[in-house]
Amino acid sequence: MPKRGQEIFLDNKLGKCNLCHVNAGATANLGGGSLGNANFNTGVEDLPDQPARLTTQKVPRDDGFRTPGDGTFNVPPLVEAADSGPFFHNNAIETIEGAVAFYDGEAFNKSPAGLALAKLDPEGKGIELDGTQIVAIAAFLRVINVLENIRQSIMLLEASLAVSSSAERARLLTRAVRETDDSTRVLTGGGLHATLSLTSTKHDAWRTGPSGATSSVGGTRRRPSRSRRKREHSSSNEGRERRDI
Ligand code: HEC
Repeated sequence: MPKRGQEIFLDNKLGKCNLCHVNAGATANLGGGSLGNANFNTGVEDLPDQPARLTTQKVPRDDGFRTPGDGTFNVPPLVEAADSGPFFHNNAIETIEGAVAFYDGEAFNKSPAGLALAKLDPEGKGIELDGTQIVAIAAFLRVINVLENIRQSIMLLEASLAVSSSAERARLLTRAVRETDDSTRVLTGGGLHATLSLTSTKHDAWRTGPSGATSSVGGTRRRPSRSRRKREHSSSNEGRERRDI
């Protein structure tokens, strides 16, 4: 899923993300030649039903860069975006899946940036993505976020080995743990966390047939003690146990 998301992100005819966020960074390369860190009017202000506007308070439009504003906003890097919601300059969208889905909508496709993309497209299309493709791109963004978390936590662990003060070491280790916790949260939020699937396999392994014998799933695992079985049963295995014949 994340791999497919990467392909769609990089595909200048499908996701088109890489035209503005080159290699998930903040550099744009729209239609030949790098534009550097550019500004675009992507229509975020035109999104309907923005959370802040659903309240009774009147929220003024943000008119973007320069005074008076030209409606454009700066392209942000996306390497650690998945972990940094809510998204866009006005926090219009809470989830990374929603932020990706924004590009499939009218607000973007009718914006100056969306129309410019359509003009470059041989079929005159802006960005059109299906639900599965949106989730795949978001999964890719979650995974690159986690790779960055892991990189940082390795740096912190290495730094902790090099310091002599134990207080400093504890501080670095705490930050490394925080990076790892962030990774877990980012993956779990997208249903991507490995231990989740591990847990369900574990539950399968504890399942017993009608005779009470342990199922063959999990092979070498010893049969759990009676109290363990009881605990397992009363917690998450309720109702599942006897179906595995
Ligand atoms: C025309 C240029 C352009 C294209 C194409 C584009 N983006 Fe963006 N992107 C921007 C700009 C500009 C912003 C900042 C907008 C704002 O804050 O209002 C942004 C913001 C974002 C954000 C929010 C980051 C944050 O931390 O708030 C995400 C996520 C994002 N883009 C993902 C994507 C994905 C995924 C695609 C492809 C489906 C894509 N972008 C295509 C220009 C572009």
